[in-house]
Amino acid sequence: MVNFFPNINDGITILVLCSSAVWGAITVSKTIMFKREGPMDQDIAKVIYSEKEIASRVAAIGQAITKDYAPVADEGIIVISVLNGAALFMADLVRQIKLPLAMDFMAVSSYGNGTTSSGVVRIIKDLSQDIEGKHVIIAEDIIDSGLTLKYLIKYLSSRKPASIEVAALLRKNTERQADIECRYEGFECPDEFIVGYGLDYAEHYRNLPYIGVLKPELYQ
Ligand code: IMP
Ligand code: MG
Repeated sequence: MVNFFPNINDGITILVLCSSAVWGAITVSKTIMFKREGPMDQDIAKVIYSEKEIASRVAAIGQAITKDYAPVADEGIIVISVLNGAALFMADLVRQIKLPLAMDFMAVSSYGNGTTSSGVVRIIKDLSQDIEGKHVIIAEDIIDSGLTLKYLIKYLSSRKPASIEVAALLRKNTERQADIECRYEGFECPDEFIVGYGLDYAEHYRNLPYIGVLKPELYQ
């Protein structure tokens, strides 16, 4: 009999090549099948998460939160979203959490109109309710440098909530990321500048229903 895997390393190499080929094929087919219907679609180099894929990850996160927080729900749950980027994620996520909860919004700025983190976090809008003794879930769109969340967690902890956890739709695969514990994570995304489903470039593209890579020539 022919031995296809003479040693374990060959087996692993074949497995890695096959997975890369499958992943490549999925990415290519998503890009080919992607109908460029409006002017915003023309600015997208490739789609990385379709509307359907996002909905399914958000539903899974909502289910996990429902299960984890059911025992403490009567102590009070507050989902805090960081405007403007996380507004869409927050709106979809809370509808997948089948427990009573309150919602609140903060606005911070760490980006300006560029595409890299300034490292400076400024509070533009603070919470409108007390979080002392409550279970806080921060709904964040994307963790890039992690500086925004690091600051927020420290800031919110000083208000003595019963617990704080992070639900981030996306986490960029980058080495220059602050050490952030993220209990609920949607996707680990490539280190590229992406837009859609709340994420913007100079306040545009937030209303795209999918997440895609913005053509670099538009901001370089
Ligand atoms: P961080 O502080 O570097 O983790 O970035 C925090 C914020 O920057 C996120 O909440 C987003 O609003 C924004 N951001 C980070 N990466 C991207 C991106 O690729 N596209 C659009 N906005 C981004
Ligand atoms: Mg944000």
